[in-house]
Amino acid sequence: AQRVEATGVQGSWTAGGHGYGKAYEFTGPYGHPMRLFFDVEKFVAEPGFESTYPDRPERRSSHAAAPRFLDHVTVASSDVRGFAKWYNEALGFRVMAFVDLDEAPITVFSVLTTNEKSHDLGVVLDTSSRAGRVNHIAFWVDATEDLLRTADVMMENGTAMEYGPSIHGVGEQNFLYFRDPSGLRVELNSGGYRNYVPDWEANTWKPSEGSNNFYKNGAMPHSMTESFPPAEGFTATEEGASPEMKEALLNPYAKQGRG
Ligand SMILES: [Fe+2]
Repeated sequence: AQRVEATGVQGSWTAGGHGYGKAYEFTGPYGHPMRLFFDVEKFVAEPGFESTYPDRPERRSSHAAAPRFLDHVTVASSDVRGFAKWYNEALGFRVMAFVDLDEAPITVFSVLTTNEKSHDLGVVLDTSSRAGRVNHIAFWVDATEDLLRTADVMMENGTAMEYGPSIHGVGEQNFLYFRDPSGLRVELNSGGYRNYVPDWEANTWKPSEGSNNFYKNGAMPHSMTESFPPAEGFTATEEGASPEMKEALLNPYAKQGRG
């Protein structure tokens, strides 16, 4: 809380809520409501759902994806590098990678982490007037086969996949995107690197290097640029871009042969 307030952001303390104790709540400089807390109520499985593994809170689901844990959240911000800098300086996230457009020095994506994964917080560029939006939430599955099995189950049950399965260049995770019944984008991840380098210096990727789809054999659908809740106007492009630049800025991954 002291580190947050030292940056000029003012929050407030609460006594806690459902499942968590004393908390510090603030709105980040790019409009995202944040809550910091330490004490949590440990999850206890309902009778019949206990795992035979003593360290697991609940037995493995036998349904479709059967994710193991929440992997990351990717939010939207009007300034990707500013967002990364603030969360690095105030909350100690390591900045793991940036993506700049091929056509212009505009940063459209970054990944940050508090641990050995490539990211537990992502950020995409958002030039809408609506601050604090989310782009997707992602769950972890143990193996790529789990991800492919989920794709199979979704196809068999009439649920469209939005993008993937494929592999990100940034972070090297296998990915699959789809929408939940509310319309929110959900991702499944597996694989990826483990990075313990304390003074890691972020590479800046270009879409043409396969930042998003390292196989570079499938154009990203335009729907992937939507964040939530919806906003008016250009939401994935930089205001003031020249007309000839706007098509590329709207979806920099839309060209065949890019990733
Ligand atoms: Fe993601």
